Amino acid sequence: MSMVETKHVKSEDEITEEVVRRFDVTTDARLREIMQSLVTHLHAFAREVQLTDQEWFAGIEFLTAVGKKCADNRQEFILLSDTLGLSILVDKINHQIPGSATETTVLGPFYRPGAEELPPGGNMAGIDKTGTPLLVTGRVVDVAGRPVAGAVLDCWQATSEGFYDSQLGAGEELGMRGVYRTDADGRYLVRTTRPKWYPVPTDGPVGDMLRATNRHPYRPGHVHFMISAPGYMPLVTHIFDKQGEYLDSDTVFAVKDSLKVDFRERSVQEAIGQRAGLQPPYVTAEFDFVLNPA
Ligand code: BEZ
Ligand code: FE
Repeated sequence: MSMVETKHVKSEDEITEEVVRRFDVTTDARLREIMQSLVTHLHAFAREVQLTDQEWFAGIEFLTAVGKKCADNRQEFILLSDTLGLSILVDKINHQIPGSATETTVLGPFYRPGAEELPPGGNMAGIDKTGTPLLVTGRVVDVAGRPVAGAVLDCWQATSEGFYDSQLGAGEELGMRGVYRTDADGRYLVRTTRPKWYPVPTDGPVGDMLRATNRHPYRPGHVHFMISAPGYMPLVTHIFDKQGEYLDSDTVFAVKDSLKVDFRERSVQEAIGQRAGLQPPYVTAEFDFVLNPA
């Protein structure tokens, strides 16, 4: 009499359960939680779309290309995270705003430290010879509305043609960047040029993904701010030109209604233009930044 061996064929669910169990030995509880959840969701994704061998390999090739595109001045993985909305989701999870503090948004890949400190009204857009001058003014205050004196505003943006300094081929030279400090009343005055919408870098695999999925690569015009002051949580945010294009379809999902600001065109001289030594026409934008306590 022959013994018939009954072979157990693992089901899809059993495969997932075994991989999850394999991490039971991970002593770092947070790492264990993250890995087990990651495996569970990754497997659920493959099951849901019934991923084919070819599609799995195309994904491997895509992620390999993303890695190869990364360099000292290029972070294609962050760009992928941005365009998949993961960056803004993580930002939301970590910066649930209590009360009236200014909403945060993504840092983006173009921040560079070391911008020159400028006096109130000093021009951070010296390299942008053709842009419309823009004066951004307002106060930095705490959640109770009290002025934050000596707050540091590190500001950066694209030119009125939609390019960051690092995309203009000027080597290491910094441009379209400035550091400003608030006065005793928490007031600041930034002089720059009106930023234009621009595409995120599309010469890599993230660009391929956007084209393959029929998505546009554009971000609406904005000015970036990183604001810090002792005793307060650093604030990373932008202000957006309310009249600009792509506000409803930012390719990195970073627009928030509270950060849309009227950029007002001025054709007659105003006190603010006088302060900055600027003749009309120019554009003004007013925005108060509210900092959370540390
Ligand atoms: C930016 O605003 O500089 C930016 C943010 C995310 C991806 C690409 C650019
Ligand atoms: Fe930007």
